[in-house]
Amino acid sequence: QLPAGLGAAADYARLAQRFIAEPLLAHLDGGAGHDRSAAANLAAFGRWQVMPRLLRDLRHGHTRCRPAGLDLPHPLLLAAVARLGEYHPQAERAVAQAAAATDTVQVLSTLSSLTLEEVAAAAPAAPRWFQLYLQPRREATQDLLRRAAAAGYRAVVLTLDAPVQSPSLRALRAGYRAPAAPAPNLLPYAAGDAALPTPPLGPGDSRVFQGALRHAPRSEDLDWLLADSPLPVWIKGVLHPDDARALATRGVAGLVVSNHGGRSLDGAPASLDCLAAVRAAVGPQLPLLFDGGIRGGDDVFKALALGASAVMVGRLQAHALAVAGALGVAHMLKLLREELELTMALAGCATLADIGPHCLVAAPAPIA
Ligand code: FNR
Repeated sequence: QLPAGLGAAADYARLAQRFIAEPLLAHLDGGAGHDRSAAANLAAFGRWQVMPRLLRDLRHGHTRCRPAGLDLPHPLLLAAVARLGEYHPQAERAVAQAAAATDTVQVLSTLSSLTLEEVAAAAPAAPRWFQLYLQPRREATQDLLRRAAAAGYRAVVLTLDAPVQSPSLRALRAGYRAPAAPAPNLLPYAAGDAALPTPPLGPGDSRVFQGALRHAPRSEDLDWLLADSPLPVWIKGVLHPDDARALATRGVAGLVVSNHGGRSLDGAPASLDCLAAVRAAVGPQLPLLFDGGIRGGDDVFKALALGASAVMVGRLQAHALAVAGALGVAHMLKLLREELELTMALAGCATLADIGPHCLVAAPAPIA
């Protein structure tokens, strides 16, 4: 049963406030630091408007797309969100079922509440990818990749934009405490990691540089991963066109333009504001996913117009999961897809290939 009042995908964000206790909601909706980049992600969409077009023949319209050899009926993916068990007892299992019902790729976080094998078993036919955080020891990373490939995950999304965790002031002030237990996917490696030497910080050493960043990914780790991975590798967290250009030449399947939902560098630009420059830097062919602030089908349209091949949905997935479990996530995706189709129809676009920067106009500055 879906609660009343759900007419738009964004309604899930509003209704979730009734289903998620404040400390957890602060953790979910908040960003790093003062929430500046999380807020910027949402505001960026308001600076663009969609121009309606008339008398187009749209009877052959559809939303199919084929980024990186995939064949997707719509350009929506479910982003990696850690520990979905905090929002619903069925956790990532419910998301897998919703993904299977709507032909949506589920990107499972390294930090999921259930193991990657448990999620795969919940919906064996669903298309799914695995989001990877490089582990302190390469043998652990290697084992995670082996397990993901064996369980039917078809690609790896390597997240590079959070080598060190930025606390959310909103979550801290609301009293949110992250679960202390290691993520279930990482349990087999906990003992080996604990045995790693941890040299104590000396006087004058930094908790960030010599502390948290000790195991941060380096360029040679990416070379190693690309040579060793049994699965195609996407890189998540790209904003600067120079990073995009450099990564594009290294044999990646594609890039994810993302500021981690504003949860890493507070003050980083909105993902949407970086998209067109990244597309210009890598050229028209390289598949680009986008995430950050998608709350409706018109947002999806704007991201596609500015250069994304498809988009990923983060918080809205957790909102829908908290409100109505698998049914909620599937319904949210259905609403999002229909909103995209409606926007395409009224903008005169029959296919995703018809969507481009020419469909948008800059919103006039508000009158002071
Ligand atoms: C995330 N995100 C994330 N990204 C990732 O690569 N690995 C992870 O484990 C997580 N975990 C996570 C937890 C929570 C609570 C949130 C809100 C986000 C980032 C996520 O994949 C995505 O980049 C953003 O959520 C996109 O922005 P929206 O759609 O939430 O606005």
